[in-house]
Amino acid sequence: CGIVGYVGPKSAERVIVEGLRRLEYRGYDSAGVALVHEGGLVGDKRAGKLTNLDKALEEHPLPESTIGIGHTRWATHGPPTDRNAHPHRGQKERVAVVHNGIIENFASLRHELEAAGHDLRSDTDTEVAAHLLEIAVAEGADLTTAMQDVCRRLRGAFTLVAVDAQDPDRVVAARRNSPLVVGVGEGENFLGSDVAAFIEHTRHALELGQDQVVTITRDAVEVTDFEGNPAQARAYEIDWDLTAAEKDGYDWFMRKEIFEQPRAIADSLLGRHDDSGKLQLDEIRMSEDELRDVDKIIITACGTAFYAGLVAKYAIEHWTRIPCEVELAHEFRYRDPILTRDTLVVAISQSGETADTLMAIRHAREQRAKVLAICNTNGSTIPRESDAVIYTHAGPEIGVASTKGFMTQLIACYLLGLYLAQVRGTRFGDEIASVVDELAGLPAKVEQVLGQADQIYALAQDLQDARSVLFLGRHAGFPVALEGALKLKELAYIHAEGFAAGELKHGPIALIEEGLPVFCVVPPPGRDLLHDKMISGMQEVRARGARMIVLAEEGDDAVDDYADVIFRLPKASTLLQPVAAVVPLQLFACELATLMGHDVDQPRNLAKSVTVE
Ligand code: G6P
Repeated sequence: CGIVGYVGPKSAERVIVEGLRRLEYRGYDSAGVALVHEGGLVGDKRAGKLTNLDKALEEHPLPESTIGIGHTRWATHGPPTDRNAHPHRGQKERVAVVHNGIIENFASLRHELEAAGHDLRSDTDTEVAAHLLEIAVAEGADLTTAMQDVCRRLRGAFTLVAVDAQDPDRVVAARRNSPLVVGVGEGENFLGSDVAAFIEHTRHALELGQDQVVTITRDAVEVTDFEGNPAQARAYEIDWDLTAAEKDGYDWFMRKEIFEQPRAIADSLLGRHDDSGKLQLDEIRMSEDELRDVDKIIITACGTAFYAGLVAKYAIEHWTRIPCEVELAHEFRYRDPILTRDTLVVAISQSGETADTLMAIRHAREQRAKVLAICNTNGSTIPRESDAVIYTHAGPEIGVASTKGFMTQLIACYLLGLYLAQVRGTRFGDEIASVVDELAGLPAKVEQVLGQADQIYALAQDLQDARSVLFLGRHAGFPVALEGALKLKELAYIHAEGFAAGELKHGPIALIEEGLPVFCVVPPPGRDLLHDKMISGMQEVRARGARMIVLAEEGDDAVDDYADVIFRLPKASTLLQPVAAVVPLQLFACELATLMGHDVDQPRNLAKSVTVE
């Protein structure tokens, strides 16, 4: 969910709705605002996207106010209706609250409130917090103390932001396991789920720690723990520029982000190797001795980041000879994995806020494993709670379906693998410099693939009526196939599946029928048998009438006889080929969804960062 709070001289409604617009990628099932006006609360909330709220506010304008809160929701408790939209209010409509996360003990709290005669109007877990805060302020506590008291009673993960109708000077927020940042202005202050909420107003931010309560007034920001003791928040400057968060002439953020990938790769490599190909990852915060002791690597992540992890396994094991497993964070966390001090757990997360991944690393650290985060968001929770971090430099990713985030995760994984090989001096050591050299050439290669966008769009046009699409790959191309299928599910809402090409004959080949589109990611021709085995698999599929869309290296004419359409990939080693190979699949999904009339940046039912388990 996206959360905004404001107090200052400006129109709170305007500041909050604009903030919500920039946060809408975090959830868009419903949206709402609540403002303090002449000792009472005013506001509106609507199911559906923010435009529904916009319309309602236009038809029924709210009175002027300079303090308030707002929310854009990704539903957890209760369907996305007007009634369940945030903000929620207490019994006497004195306190309004917005919330991100899940209050786990809400059922018993609700029961307690109902027994005391409270009438709860929504199905949400949030409403109990509004009632409890209101009871506390009615008994004479100020909103800050009320928040501290209430938070001590809540279990689960939450960011709460509240206003009290009888206190037109303060907005109070609390955070446990859910994101919240403060924007520090002059004569005004802001709260947001991330800095995008207030980036046009200030570049000074404060990062809150775990279990903290923050009170903003026009002139001050005060931070305490849940007990009321003064606490510290870390100040930092926001280095994203505003245009990076805007569309720049593209129809979708996603399309813009696909085209930004050459830059994102170059930025993620910048300063991380010298001219001789020696890697420099001093920022990593782990000593060379610690890295030498690692005897097992477990990569954990969700969604697209998980597929970046699958590619990483091929590279890391090959280069370092350290056994490497890859596991979905929510599975890893709950299966009692075997971890020791010498296990390196690598958590990959674009947002740094995915709750499943966060819980996985907490579990890993409790078992004394070392945790290294690969993350795109400075100051987010996952890197903060890790022993080491490699930041990707993709810039803000707004499109819900990850593209440049994934791309730079691949780069960071390669850098990690090569760095481990360098530190540990494996038999592969002599080849490191040549791989680094190949990495440096990747931006130009991706640019070359982007140059074929029009042919890919034409293919999307042809395949508009497809109801099912398959993706095949081998080796590092297998995760690319999985990612191609995920993109299509996320954006075009059609059945899509990725398979390891060798597995097809063991079952899925039964799915093949006349005209079924099948994308094949062909490994580069080389000394090993991968390429030739892939071609045999393709023959089997073609023979059963599939429509073959082939991604193969330039000059690889062995595929010509088995392809209906060919996209040429620049020459690359097998391990680095995913960087170029994923690009046509991203473009295809983006274009197909556009042609189908879907909202590409905000696909149905999804949210950019899922901050609940
Ligand atoms: C959500 C998004 C996915 C994303 C996944 C992991 O489910 O919809 O696009 O891949 O979270 O996100 P992260 O921020 O941890 O990389």
